[in-house]
Amino acid sequence: MVPTQTADPVAALLAWHLAVGCDETLADAPLNRLQAPVPAAPADTPAAPRPSRIAAAPPPPPPAPIALDTGPPTELAASAGTLEALSNAIRSYTGCGLKATAINTVIADGNPHAALMVLGEAPGADEDRQGKPFVGASGQLLDRMLAAIGRDRSQTYISNVVFWRPPGNRQPTPQELQLCLPFVLRHIELVRPKVLMIAGGVAVKAILQRAEGIMKLRGRWFTHQLTDGSSIPVLPTYHPAFLLRSPAQKRDAWRDLIEIQVKLEELDPPRP
Ligand code: URA
Repeated sequence: MVPTQTADPVAALLAWHLAVGCDETLADAPLNRLQAPVPAAPADTPAAPRPSRIAAAPPPPPPAPIALDTGPPTELAASAGTLEALSNAIRSYTGCGLKATAINTVIADGNPHAALMVLGEAPGADEDRQGKPFVGASGQLLDRMLAAIGRDRSQTYISNVVFWRPPGNRQPTPQELQLCLPFVLRHIELVRPKVLMIAGGVAVKAILQRAEGIMKLRGRWFTHQLTDGSSIPVLPTYHPAFLLRSPAQKRDAWRDLIEIQVKLEELDPPRP
């Protein structure tokens, strides 16, 4: 909750910025956009300084180098032999620019020994604040979807294909997805679920690398190949955030959940 009344004028100004949605810094120094641009001087005449009614802001510093020069962290991910090592590797990785604007690295929730793994897209504001995936409105719907097939988070492992919140909840870019992908693939490899449910078109595309959209892919079984040659059945379904906006699609999502339940009964039958 943004405070509306405060005695400190700086805190009040910050609170106002947050309230109107300015929650990102784009440069280290302010830029005076009201100052008229100086017309270009003829080639051999030095440009005369223009008088200005508004004090000129200091020149902006040169843009910070974008931290995307390390490429996908394939070796870093592959060298993680345990979930703990993978988690440390993801937390220490600075090659994805999203890390710079996020509060937390959001890796997983639930039971890493569960037969069902769920992959979503990227953390939102609630997830970023709490450092856990699917804890906001989408997460509450995901919990209800899991409950519909008799599961909770102690019987499910939940993660995303991106580990940092994209500013303003925009979609992750193909480059950000590509940078996180080696970690995501290693994550699946280490968890080795019996069934992988992928929620939403962005995550489905990142893992299955298919051109079709989620409308065409949902409800169909695919296989995800592991490095040792074994494979995991994968079912794409709608993202809970989409279902919150389009409740009429819950019927299809319900069918997908039944598919998952049947597959889990077949591959991970309850022990007597
Ligand atoms: N949406 C996602 O895809 N993942 C989260 O963790 C939260 C919302």
